[in-house]
Amino acid sequence: MFDILGVMALVLLIAGFTWLAFRARRAKRTLVKWGGLGLAGLLAAACSVALVVALAGFYKLSHTPYHYTVSEIKVAGTPEQLARGAKFLSVCASCHSPSGKPPLVGQNFSEGGPPIGTLYAPNLTPAGEIKDWSDGEIIRAIREGVHRSGRPLLIMPSEFFRNLSDADVQAIVAALRAQPATSAVSPSTRLNVLGGARSPPHRVAMERGGLHRHLPHGRRSRAAHPDQGDAVEDVCGLCQ
Ligand code: HEC
Repeated sequence: MFDILGVMALVLLIAGFTWLAFRARRAKRTLVKWGGLGLAGLLAAACSVALVVALAGFYKLSHTPYHYTVSEIKVAGTPEQLARGAKFLSVCASCHSPSGKPPLVGQNFSEGGPPIGTLYAPNLTPAGEIKDWSDGEIIRAIREGVHRSGRPLLIMPSEFFRNLSDADVQAIVAALRAQPATSAVSPSTRLNVLGGARSPPHRVAMERGGLHRHLPHGRRSRAAHPDQGDAVEDVCGLCQ
């Protein structure tokens, strides 16, 4: 994910303001000289800061500092799993469906907010992007907040889902796969310079929450949380 045009625009602005600052320095009238130098210098400095912050943001958006393995599990999709998983889908629907109810046809998150680029909570029905994802990749996305490509997922609240038991997260995958296939389009996430410059809040939250520190690689330590998984409320702060 990289906004090459936005980065080039910032570089051009920096060059332009720097040039103006040098022009102003040679001006004869004091006001033009110092006023112009100050203003153009300030704008060049502001654009430089924006560029550095955006580049750092894009770097963070394309790298996860931790690496979880993807499990090889194949979810069977038993009636019990479907019934249990359906309970969770109503939580996911608050973001992944414009009606707030399953099926999870996807919702545009870039609309109405600051112009940060394209960001959808994608279509998670069997006709959506995850149709080609393995069950293990979907499980990793839910609990670890990692896209199939390895990049961190934005906004997706995995910090609330990270304690889901294996049985629950498999039930969710079963329920996702059993939804009616709806071919609503969810364009891939692409942030522009502004989006890159904004410190991605969810990612920062994940790092602060120490997701990568607390979870052993790709494995759930069920023993540490023996009571989890019996009630949706136990594992998912969003469900209350
Ligand atoms: C607070 C809003 C929110 C909730 C609640 C939520 N998600 Fe997400 N989810 C997102 C957003 C936004 C993305 C896209 C992030 C990106 O592209 O960086 C996403 C991405 C995903 C992806 C990756 C799919 C892809 O094609 O990139 C999966 C899988 C997923 N969510 C599953 C779930 C499941 C299952 C639940 C419920 C247990 C859930 N999500 C609840 C917002 C949410």
